[in-house]
Amino acid sequence: MKNKEFQQRQTLDQITEIKRILAAARHGMDNRMPATLLVTSAGQEEGKSLVASALAVSAARGGDNRVALLDGNWFRPAIHRFFNLDLNRSTQQLMDGELHHLVRQVEAISLDILTAPADFSTHSHTTDQINLTIKRFIEQAKITYDLTIIDSGALFPTNRFMVDPVEISSLTTGVIVVIKSGSTSRQQVKKAIKIMETTGANILGVISNHWQLPTGSQG
Ligand SMILES: Nc1ncnc2c1ncn2[C@@H]1O[C@H](COP(=O)(O)OP(=O)(O)O)[C@@H](O)[C@H]1O
Ligand SMILES: [Mg+2]
Repeated sequence: MKNKEFQQRQTLDQITEIKRILAAARHGMDNRMPATLLVTSAGQEEGKSLVASALAVSAARGGDNRVALLDGNWFRPAIHRFFNLDLNRSTQQLMDGELHHLVRQVEAISLDILTAPADFSTHSHTTDQINLTIKRFIEQAKITYDLTIIDSGALFPTNRFMVDPVEISSLTTGVIVVIKSGSTSRQQVKKAIKIMETTGANILGVISNHWQLPTGSQG
């Protein structure tokens, strides 16, 4: 596990394209501030969480922006792993709390992180309650941060426990769609984009994430 985390941190540092993607995203959002940027994908395991983390680190390292990274994939949280954090809050705490009390700051760079709740799959709540909570966090983030990056789940397959990225997409300034090259069909990606566009989302573009896993790795 430790080794995997180390590799992930290395990968974060090695994504040289990230700065360009960030610049393009900012341009696509007309350099508006505050801006909220959703990172999503059509299918699972395409690299959303890695790209969202790398974008947040890159933006925070820039230094002149107040940056936050929110884990919006409560069903399959991942952001905490990229930053060596535990899941220290319950779903109820998130539903009742204020964003600025719930975030944790990453040392060395000025980045605030909201990790997912620890008990999401066992907590009883309605989809509406969760969507309202996310909406509230996005509103609160706009007051405190210049740029808020939101990692989310995939659009497909849907399940009744997911925090729906389509719902989040229409609340944000822009959306980046990550595609793991060779994995998701064009039709699926087009369908995902169309669904989000019909809710009013501003799709900034797609990122093709190429990577080679070591032989024998499960990914
Ligand atoms: N470009 C890459 N190079 C190396 N490993 C990657 C790359 N993109 C993703 N991974 C790894 O693949 C796994 C899935 O990526 P993740 O960002 O969690 O996907 P998603 O959030 O879309 O499910 C993670 O272990 C991640 O570190
Ligand atoms: Mg993820």
